[in-house]
Amino acid sequence: MSSTSAERDDLWIPEQLRENVEEILIPADRIAARLDELAAEVDRDYAGRDTDLLLVGVLRGAVFTLSDLARRLTIPSAIDFMACSSYGSSTTSSGVVRILKDLDTEIEGRDVLLVEDIVDTGLTLDYLIKNLRSRNPASVEVLSLLTKPSRREVELPVRYIGFEVPDVFVVGYGLDYAERYRGIPHIVSLKPGTGA
Ligand code: PRP
Repeated sequence: MSSTSAERDDLWIPEQLRENVEEILIPADRIAARLDELAAEVDRDYAGRDTDLLLVGVLRGAVFTLSDLARRLTIPSAIDFMACSSYGSSTTSSGVVRILKDLDTEIEGRDVLLVEDIVDTGLTLDYLIKNLRSRNPASVEVLSLLTKPSRREVELPVRYIGFEVPDVFVVGYGLDYAERYRGIPHIVSLKPGTGA
């Protein structure tokens, strides 16, 4: 039987997904509190600019972080999205990223804040930052909810970071395993053998 929203506590996980969850690493209330802090920093850093800040979400995992960040900002902001092909698990060091969906927005002269759910090897962002910089924006910075420094293959300037996570497979709050678990409100690890 599924629970009603009134029965959900702070650590609620949908019942059908709960059996594969090993541990709640970052509960929803900590994510919310950290996003409050990050939004306040972004507000301060971009106050008084000539153009509205453009938040660029990298599909699909970043949609939760982007929408929760955008709802906290008090400065004027716009949103857009990009989608990239993954470089494939066996060739993670190649760094080849293909743009599947480009921005709808011209960014010349704009302040751009790339929003990610996680920086892992860094190859996706490394490519995206270079690609966006070639379009002559006023600035390109990165905000990522999570970072896994132990997996980094390229050095990256990530200006705003929510949390560092260990080298375990994490899902929830936008992150998936085989497209599942994105809707879990927390960052969680999966039980060994789940397939992750
Ligand atoms: C994840 C994540 C980043 C990228 C980070 O996306 O959202 O975009 O991987 O990995 P990297 O630092 O090693 O490049 P994924 O390809 O899983 O797509 P998704 O967001 O649609 O789940």
